[in-house]
Amino acid sequence: MASFKLNTSLLLILFAIANASNFNNDFDITWGADRGKIAGDILTLSLDRISGSGFQSKKEYHFGRIDMQLKLVPGNSAGTVTAYYLSSQGPTHDEIDFEFLGNETGQPYTLHTNVYTQGKGEREQQFRMWFDPTSRFHTYSIMWSPQTIVFLVDETPIREFRNMERIGVPYPNRQPMRLYSSLWNADQWATRGGLVKTDWTKAPFTASYRNFNVKPNLLTQLDSVRNRRLRWVKKNHMIYSYCTDTKRFPHGFPKECSVNH
Ligand SMILES: *[C@@H]1O[C@H](CO)[C@@H](O)[C@H](O)[C@H]1NC(C)=O
Repeated sequence: MASFKLNTSLLLILFAIANASNFNNDFDITWGADRGKIAGDILTLSLDRISGSGFQSKKEYHFGRIDMQLKLVPGNSAGTVTAYYLSSQGPTHDEIDFEFLGNETGQPYTLHTNVYTQGKGEREQQFRMWFDPTSRFHTYSIMWSPQTIVFLVDETPIREFRNMERIGVPYPNRQPMRLYSSLWNADQWATRGGLVKTDWTKAPFTASYRNFNVKPNLLTQLDSVRNRRLRWVKKNHMIYSYCTDTKRFPHGFPKECSVNH
């Protein structure tokens, strides 16, 4: 009896260890020297006057569901950008982007998204989050399958990019991608087109990451519950979509806008 008990608790412990995300196994800090730090199950990136920092996954992924929890730079984060994205390499690369544009204390972040296919992006959509993304960790996910790409925030879909190859829109399905993240200074453009500058007296700025997870993803389309959530986000929290920007596309919107937006 006693030995049975011992064995089960040992198994449970081993199981917990195997499940805990270990950033050292999954990622390399690629720039910014000791501004990028892995401490147990938390990874932090920081930015000071001299440099930002970044990491990338050791592995490449070809479809899948990727989850990460992020806690963004608190306080006066105006001018800072935290990017979190999947990307392949080269001039015809694909990319699926989350970028968080900081703001002055008490003012909302902008969540900026984009999708590149075969080297071409220009598919920006921006959102305001319905919570303070700096006070605690929230989960940001990318579900990528041959049929559709879904961006999720705490399980709520905020954007979908469906495979529209049948109407001639390239789709990211041929190139594996790595996960990248970086924290950098973008006060040239990020905050009201460069009007608000980064307040270096508040440096270093720090963003934290935990609970990285990759799973297979076979999603072919959003169910009605998730579709309803997506419409709720579009109606209440979307602040920009290239598919409604008539100034930018005076001669008609890109083809995919007729399907997805
Ligand atoms: C910062 O907040 C202001 C006021 O709400 C808003 O107009 C602006 O777009 C925000 N800037 C960013 C980068 O999100």
